[in-house]
Amino acid sequence: MTKRYFNPTELITGEGSFAQLPQVVSRFGRCALVVRAPRVSDPTPQLEAAGIAVLATDPIDHEPTTGDIEAGLALARAEHAEVVVGIGGGSVMDTAKAIAGLFPHPGTVEEYHTGARKVPGAGLPFIAVPTTAGTGAEVTKNAVLSDPDRHTKESIRHDGWFARVALVDPELTYSVPPAVTAGSGSDALCQAIEAYVSIGAMPATDALAAEAIRLTWRALPTAYHEPHNRAARADMLYGSLLAGLALANARLGGVHGLAHPLGHRFDIPHGVICGLLLPHVMAYNLHDAEAKYAHVAQLMGFADAEAAIDGIRQMLSDINVPLRLRDVHVDRDAFPVIVAESLPSGSLKHNPRPLAAEDVMAILESAW
Ligand SMILES: [Fe+2]
Repeated sequence: MTKRYFNPTELITGEGSFAQLPQVVSRFGRCALVVRAPRVSDPTPQLEAAGIAVLATDPIDHEPTTGDIEAGLALARAEHAEVVVGIGGGSVMDTAKAIAGLFPHPGTVEEYHTGARKVPGAGLPFIAVPTTAGTGAEVTKNAVLSDPDRHTKESIRHDGWFARVALVDPELTYSVPPAVTAGSGSDALCQAIEAYVSIGAMPATDALAAEAIRLTWRALPTAYHEPHNRAARADMLYGSLLAGLALANARLGGVHGLAHPLGHRFDIPHGVICGLLLPHVMAYNLHDAEAKYAHVAQLMGFADAEAAIDGIRQMLSDINVPLRLRDVHVDRDAFPVIVAESLPSGSLKHNPRPLAAEDVMAILESAW
């Protein structure tokens, strides 16, 4: 099977690298649309001091909707933005990525979200600045958007949507509150494992995913309990970056196929539902990817994969990630809808063990 590895994003890493934002932005234009999380301090003074006009959207404090993208596009087009900057977690970076990516193209956001239109090409230059160690959205080409009217949560993607530059500065993660560290960190670990065992995995992604597993597994409990532990914060941020590089090419698996409909319908943070589902999907997959899971266990310091699954459960419990769907108020009657909504997912199709409707239902029941 032929596989392709592609990632054009320039990475600038290290403590203090965020200070380079004005000079990086000025490489691409003099008018920047800035999307940021509420927790992030406003970089407008530094950008304006460098002669860059700043357009600011309302801070994004939720997983983005098609409406958020329409609003950002209207502002960016009216004021002739030349570059888009996203400073925040996955939600913020995906918002900025989709605004940049759709800027020059006709049609509504909904048309791209439903698949009625395909993204025809690249958009405005996009600069990504992650402030949580989680999604890896700084190095992926997709934006996950929800449409509240249609009850759907889907990705829009294009090879031209990768960030031109990612500024990856661990200092920006020191103030992340523990609950967000736990959720986003669970997502990073989950993405590293799913990319590693994916049927889309290849040697280039295996190397990245394996190191991401090693780093995030070791650092997550420390980052949670000791928010100012600089080494743990850096390991988490670089681990989530490597997981992002891996999944951008290897894709993901059953956890992410189920996480989108469950998260959207029951308003569960993405990282929390990913952590919750991870041990259940690993148990389902175990015997179809035995060699890979044996290596996952080794990277985590366990004798075998069963012990690694138990270890993940204990670690999640230690960082207060719920372990059962009933704990996050999922309605069991909705299982048939969740099954139907998850089956078309690209993530599900990359799971190492095939997932038919009855298999998805069995995983939901085991996680209940
Ligand atoms: Fe994820």
